[in-house]
Amino acid sequence: MKQLHIASIPGDGIGNEVVPAAIEVLEAVSEIHGGLSFHFTHFPYSCDYYLEHGVMMPEDGLDQLKNFDAIFLGAVGNAKLVPDHISLWGLLIKLRREFEQVINIRPAKLLSGVPSPLVNPKDFDLIVVRENSEGEYSSVGGRMYKNEEEIAIQNSIFSRRGTERVMRYAFDLAKKRNKRVTSATKSNGIYYSMPFWDEVLKDVAKDYPEVETDSQHIDALAACFVTHPNKFDVVVASNLFGDVLTDLGAAIMGSVGIAPAANINVNGKYPSMFEPVHGSAPDITGKGIANPIGQIWTAKMMLDHFDEEEVGHVLLSVIESTTQDGILTADMGGKYTTKEVTAEIITRLKARA
Ligand code: NAD
Ligand code: IPM
Ligand code: MN
Repeated sequence: MKQLHIASIPGDGIGNEVVPAAIEVLEAVSEIHGGLSFHFTHFPYSCDYYLEHGVMMPEDGLDQLKNFDAIFLGAVGNAKLVPDHISLWGLLIKLRREFEQVINIRPAKLLSGVPSPLVNPKDFDLIVVRENSEGEYSSVGGRMYKNEEEIAIQNSIFSRRGTERVMRYAFDLAKKRNKRVTSATKSNGIYYSMPFWDEVLKDVAKDYPEVETDSQHIDALAACFVTHPNKFDVVVASNLFGDVLTDLGAAIMGSVGIAPAANINVNGKYPSMFEPVHGSAPDITGKGIANPIGQIWTAKMMLDHFDEEEVGHVLLSVIESTTQDGILTADMGGKYTTKEVTAEIITRLKARA
């Protein structure tokens, strides 16, 4: 019996609705699998926790989490209670960095039955490999002059090690897929980091002659996500470009509520973390209508991570059977609740046993 010890952090807002839903699904997965079981330990780290304790997680929070096989996180952020840069840097970004989850994998593909806003959605199936530890998300900079001359300086850090690492990850992934890597650049307008990014791409590409390489400026690339998303296989992007592209990827899939993601620790020293692309969705929190598919598909990525691709594949095909049959939440134009969609997925999963 393979026993996986998972730290669950629902976080804020709809994280508290979709994480329990996905955990129920994972429990059903272990029932039909037989050889796999999950042991969840729940952590209350969130903006509410901050209000009570003055911190997003306790001083020994990282020590408490570091020996788990994985972290399963919902979303962080409740700007009404805590400024976003405090809550996010105190929990989500802290975990990504301290646990060296340097790669963020974010697939985007069409599920049948989900209406896409594209007029002619051709089948697309792409993966954005987002650099997850540096780039534009850096705490180097400062603010000066509290008067009309006030300035804010925000530096971006692009290390050769980090840039090469994300590119190699993208090329290795492309080798197993359709052998195409598109790099998101902006070397026409950003003077230092992006020409460097392009140079590293060229160097790395030499080691992958079997992979077709292409480089596009982020503005044109974003437009192409809308006009020809089926042209992409693996897209490698910096931290910020990857962030923006993946909400766009989610939008063409039909809703940010279904897009999955995985923050991968590649050196095996710390747990990887599984959390969907979407945030805490304060506008729909408490209504029971959050789409649970992003979190459930994220659970499927966690199964893949633990070499359980077979049951992961079954889970995704069950998810798709529900969308195909029109069992959709409001964000996808349907009328079903979080609980109803989850129950339907579980019933269909058990029927596959
Ligand atoms: P958001 O993703 O929370 O919401 C954007 C829109 O998508 C909203 O209209 C929301 O209702 C909708 N939406 C999102 N997930 C949905 C779901 N599962 N089902 C149905 N509709 C869904 O983005 P935002 O409004 O920019 O951010 C809200 C908060 O979440 C902020 O505090 C932000 O910093 C935080 N955030 C956290 C994460 C994370 O923890 N991974 C990611 C993004 C944003
Ligand atoms: C995401 C989110 C985060 C990011 C925010 C909340 C800091 O948008 O996971 O996509 O930008 O990485
Ligand atoms: Mn984002």
